[in-house]
Amino acid sequence: MVTRKTFIGLVVVLVQTVAIISAAPSETASLQGLVQRLLPKSYHNAFDFQLVSDIPQPSADNKYDVYRVSNKKVKNGPSILIEGATLSALGAGLKYYLDQAGQVELTWSGNRFDELPRVPPQVPDLELDTGNVVTTGHVRGSIVPHRYYTNVVSFGYQFVFWDWKRWEREIDWMMLNGINMLPAMVGQEYVFRQFFYNLNLTDADLFPFLTGPAFMPWQRMGNLQGSWNHELTHTSAANELVYKNKWIDTQWDLQKLILARLQDFDITAVLPAFQAFVPYSLVAKYPNNVFGNSSDWSFFPEQYTNVTYVSPTDPLFSDLSAQFLDLQQKLNGGYTSHYYLLDLYNELVPECATPTCLKAITISVTKALQRVDKDAVWTMQGWFLQDTTIWTPEATQAYFQGIRDADGTPFIFDLASDSLPVWNTNEGFYGFDFGWSLINNYGAAQGLFGKLPELFTLPFTAYNEYPGNLKGMGVTAEGINNNEYLYETLLDLPWHDPKATINQTRHLELFVRRRYGASLATPSVQDAFHKLSKTVWDCQTGQPSQSKSYIEKLPNLNMTDDGWLGTIFWYDKTTVVQAWSQLVQESALFSKKHAKVPSSFKFDLVDTTREVLLATVFPAIHGALVDSYQSNDVSKVQAYGRQLVSLIHDADLLLNTHELFSFGSWVQAARDSRNPLRTRQSFESFESDHSSSGPGVAGYEQFLESNARDIVTWWGPEGTGPPGSLPDYASKQWGGLINSFYLPRWQLFIQQLEKAAADRKPWNRDDYITKNLAREAIWQAQIWGHQKGETKTTNGQDPVKVVQELSARWGALAVKIAAGGKP
Ligand SMILES: *[C@@H]1O[C@H](CO)[C@@H](O)[C@H](O)[C@H]1NC(C)=O
Ligand SMILES: *[C@@H]1O[C@H](CO)[C@@H](O)[C@H](O)[C@H]1NC(C)=O
Ligand SMILES: *[C@@H]1O[C@H](CO)[C@@H](O)[C@H](O)[C@H]1NC(C)=O
Ligand SMILES: *[C@@H]1O[C@H](CO)[C@@H](O)[C@H](O)[C@H]1NC(C)=O
Ligand SMILES: *[C@@H]1O[C@H](CO)[C@@H](O)[C@H](O)[C@H]1NC(C)=O
Repeated sequence: MVTRKTFIGLVVVLVQTVAIISAAPSETASLQGLVQRLLPKSYHNAFDFQLVSDIPQPSADNKYDVYRVSNKKVKNGPSILIEGATLSALGAGLKYYLDQAGQVELTWSGNRFDELPRVPPQVPDLELDTGNVVTTGHVRGSIVPHRYYTNVVSFGYQFVFWDWKRWEREIDWMMLNGINMLPAMVGQEYVFRQFFYNLNLTDADLFPFLTGPAFMPWQRMGNLQGSWNHELTHTSAANELVYKNKWIDTQWDLQKLILARLQDFDITAVLPAFQAFVPYSLVAKYPNNVFGNSSDWSFFPEQYTNVTYVSPTDPLFSDLSAQFLDLQQKLNGGYTSHYYLLDLYNELVPECATPTCLKAITISVTKALQRVDKDAVWTMQGWFLQDTTIWTPEATQAYFQGIRDADGTPFIFDLASDSLPVWNTNEGFYGFDFGWSLINNYGAAQGLFGKLPELFTLPFTAYNEYPGNLKGMGVTAEGINNNEYLYETLLDLPWHDPKATINQTRHLELFVRRRYGASLATPSVQDAFHKLSKTVWDCQTGQPSQSKSYIEKLPNLNMTDDGWLGTIFWYDKTTVVQAWSQLVQESALFSKKHAKVPSSFKFDLVDTTREVLLATVFPAIHGALVDSYQSNDVSKVQAYGRQLVSLIHDADLLLNTHELFSFGSWVQAARDSRNPLRTRQSFESFESDHSSSGPGVAGYEQFLESNARDIVTWWGPEGTGPPGSLPDYASKQWGGLINSFYLPRWQLFIQQLEKAAADRKPWNRDDYITKNLAREAIWQAQIWGHQKGETKTTNGQDPVKVVQELSARWGALAVKIAAGGKP
């Protein structure tokens, strides 16, 4: 690494002296490409990106990826000079420029790049770094070398149906946010399939091993195997096998583009490793080797879990690992990043428990990686250590001691440092390098949630305690498009001096201004965000993540759930409703003034309205409904039932105004993912087959849709299970899903309560579950758009207008309920 940087530095210094007239150096062409993709034309030649290694670091701690942004006084040339030690530094430098000079930024919910002034503004002097040895330009550096993004399960919950265009945007976003490490998980089944073919396994052997697209993260970790979509959609397993192979081929095409772009940006792709999991048929081919079945996972039926593995201490493990890594490198055109993601026991019980045995396992795994790549970094998620009944101090110590004995250099993502850290309970991973991660989100849930004050301090606590080993910071959320400010803040933190305090009020104000623009970031809007930062983003109850709205859980008499992804809304609802009303009022003014409402504002408006309607109003009406049933008051059950149904309809209307809250858009992305490169892809083998029974495009698209439906609802083959099983784990407050899936649930519930009240008999929950599941099973096999009222993507209505209507309809009630009143 160091030698490469110095080398580039030297080259650049040489180039610089003769430069000016010469074109942009090819090393930074990827950044020019990003500028051209994202920014208006008048910015395309505004930046001079230079890789230089000798910018004095701004503090003793901020020593990685140092960049400097300054104004250039060259006639007819680029007006902004961005210098940096790495490409990542240049990307972060560009964001700094856009933040400070342009007051715009790229976020998941949008950007205001079209509002940039035509002439690129100069970098303002108002924030000139003080106390620096540098006197010109803005200089920043990171306290950690690795800034990483995402959680492996996001590849199921969030990214699964993304096409190349969407990935390209995300990688640009990563670049601007200084992210220089990404688990590159897409398409790996292509390598695995070839690897297993080489071991003489057939497609038939692979079928019970490979999951459907949305569930692959858990297959990769040995939690799940096989697929059930053909059962949900009443097609044949043979067809599903064809679809799985089609998926594998097209995802590999996508992965090639992702990997190429990551290399262009010098972003470390954390590559898949052989993690010991194999199709069961492999056992018969190696009668003299040690295999086992993993423990079961999340109450799945046995055929879908208990995944077979090769014992890591068996020599076969090392052989297979070597074959896999060699094959992967070959298929990647010789490329390796040296970082390999290898999770042996994610939510699984290890094959043995004694320190001696665990140590032998990690020695063997470390050596297997080194056998192919002597610089291999065993990258792992620290999540497995959550189970402290297994991972006692002795067990954990032995596990890491094995890696040390074999001279390994692991890197550990402490996956949920904000809420469930393990770095602190495991002595900072016994001297190995690790990263501090913000998860904030499980199952791509949507509730407003965060622990803001802690977020500003906890990473620095870890840094101060293990300055030599805290080498990364990153976002490991299981889903995006929620609580954007939190994630953005975490990505900003490594660039701050850990010894200086950050003015949190100001930090938030600047965010709002960039998000909406100075004219729409009015005092009232700013105050609304201030209120949110003191309520929804200041959770102090100790709960690790968001709560779910009642609407997305199976109806019951008592919906109070203080467990994992429960339904507790801990915050001061009056303040939140007040913040919401301020946003609603301001949005009305914006439309009167015909101001262009930024897409992020629309997102936030829909999001806060969602929170008020479904986390404040809904539970109160539900409570009144249940009270009426309990007092056998049939007419009140009917009245509250009607009110609840009307609220549900309105929530659906609201959410369907926005693509990021629309089930139709999710399904459309799933169906479109048959062709993630959006090329004129050949489907000859499908297209030529006009028989109704064989596999075809329609069947393939339904396979994709079935995955899209299942993961956000049943999350598995059955739709029901004991507490802790996964149905509704990744539920969504989405337009379309509400009307087609949740509304019938609630209607049946209301009907049954009404009848129970009339008959003066207790409501029969078992009967309810049976009837409801039968209906949901039909839904799993449906095609979106075929039923009445199903809009293909959004409903095309203006979110600002719809929110005004809903505020008129529900605003006063929300205020009353927030204050403790009844509906
Ligand atoms: C696969 O089959 C080929 C040809 O029969 C044989 O040479 C090879 O040893 C087999 N490989 C494995 C891993 O069984
Ligand atoms: C391991 O799992 C396979 C199915 O994946 C099953 O057929 C086999 O019986 C299991 N073996 C043991 C020892 O339980
Ligand atoms: C699956 O794993 C569980 C332990 O987690 C075990 O009780 C069960 O017997 C296993 N089933 C099979 C078929 O291996
Ligand atoms: C922090 O920022 C706010 C808002 O800009 C400002 O009013 C306040 O004085 C600042 N606090 C400190 C300690 O500088
Ligand atoms: C509802 O369930 C919660 C959590 O399980 C429990 O604490 C509470 O007592 C229950 N409420 C009623 C009225 O039964």
